[in-house]
Amino acid sequence: MLKNAHVPRIGIEVVGKVPSRATTVHFEERDDDRAIESKGVLMIGYKGLDTISRREWMRLVRRGIREAQARKITHVAMLAHELRKGAFSKVGESDFCFALATNAAIATYEFRSYKTAPKEGWRQVRELYIIGAFSPDGRRALDQGFLVGHETNAARELANTPAGDMTPTNLAAAARTACKGLPVTTKVLGEREMKKLGMGALLGVSRGSTEDAQLIILEYRGGAKDERPIAIVGKGITFDSGGINIKPSHGGSLEEMHMDMSGGAAVIHAVAAAARLKLKRNVVGIVAAAENMVSGSSYRPGDILHSMSGKTIEVLNTDAEGRLVLSDALTYVQKKFSPRLVIDVATLTGAAAVALGTYASAVLSRDEKLSQRVRDLGDRSGDLAWPLPLAPELNATIKSNRADIANIATVSPRYGGTIEGAVFLAHFVEEKTPWVHIDIVPRMIAAPGDNLADGATGEPVRLLVECIREL
Ligand code: BES
Ligand code: MN
Ligand code: ZN
Repeated sequence: MLKNAHVPRIGIEVVGKVPSRATTVHFEERDDDRAIESKGVLMIGYKGLDTISRREWMRLVRRGIREAQARKITHVAMLAHELRKGAFSKVGESDFCFALATNAAIATYEFRSYKTAPKEGWRQVRELYIIGAFSPDGRRALDQGFLVGHETNAARELANTPAGDMTPTNLAAAARTACKGLPVTTKVLGEREMKKLGMGALLGVSRGSTEDAQLIILEYRGGAKDERPIAIVGKGITFDSGGINIKPSHGGSLEEMHMDMSGGAAVIHAVAAAARLKLKRNVVGIVAAAENMVSGSSYRPGDILHSMSGKTIEVLNTDAEGRLVLSDALTYVQKKFSPRLVIDVATLTGAAAVALGTYASAVLSRDEKLSQRVRDLGDRSGDLAWPLPLAPELNATIKSNRADIANIATVSPRYGGTIEGAVFLAHFVEEKTPWVHIDIVPRMIAAPGDNLADGATGEPVRLLVECIREL
């Protein structure tokens, strides 16, 4: 990991009354949403507290913490009974505690590792006092929530780190660091080993880069010995220039493409979180890490790649690289681990944000019930993922004349890009394997009103933890 990486951890304490050094954040029913500070209290207005939804509540808690942090408040108190509003008035104590702690933790994170610290130090909430009393289960949920929040922040740090420092090799090192001291085995395959396995699609993408591609394999076995694992597979493109089909300087989000490994970062820290939570599940995390660059050795439009599955792929656009690296990672994980469920997470298509805006990732599966369950878990966790149909009709669009399949649509390529990407991936997942694809482009960076620092959101770490726990 990088030396200057800085992911602060805030403390949490359950106490009977407000400590004198703390500022109490109150939420009050008001028409306006101004924050007013006076004499050790910070009053935040909100309209509709009694009917507030789960996700709105999470945003409000984050707002409370961030308003305090912006005012240089370091010790915050919140009254538990006052937070039992709307959707959170009815839930069990553990659910409430977990959500409170997770959202408090992610509200404090900012990407500062490359900034000079101000003389007086960073504005940072260091301690959250929760005024109330909880059962041992509630307290445990607070700890677990903080832990998941912290893993989410760590994923954000990886995604925010510039591509020059977060190369595939460094991402692999970061995965090792993330799992240090945990019962997780880490294995990393380099290009030589991938070549032996026949991973021509992944290696094709990596060819234009001077950086070595890496296949990162994390294994956590908390379940029964004979239980097949859940596999989570992440896109780990550490920089996506587009390749020879280079992205435009304006409107191509080039300066954000160091975050094209956000799915991989989420996978790494979801596995770490599962291990820290001691979930009784077997989990395999795979990250297909490579850099998509432009050079004399780049793969070209028109090239035909031999994927590990045996299928050949005609490259019609070098910017549709995520599905190429994922195709080999998906083949690998099925062959090697015969998982009972595969979830892949990728910043795959800008079309996902066109379809859904910036508040929900897209989820696609052959099994609509499974999509629906992921949607529900997304709503629970706060990482919303909304179903799109995995329409088999789109198979007609990725037919190739020169190879088994093309990497983008050859027919009406303007429409349904997210579905097209998923339909491509489906060719590399056996019908018998339950599989979910999550396209996280909409949630790659924080959106207005998220009450999260600019930059990476760390989604869907929280959702993946729920999936590992519940599916
Ligand atoms: N990494 C991009 C997707 C992306 C776009 C991420 C915007 C974050 C913000 C992906 O590799 C890509 O280039 N997708 C293309 C697919 C197309 C060539 C079929 C896209 O979305 O335009
Ligand atoms: Mn691309
Ligand atoms: Zn990409």
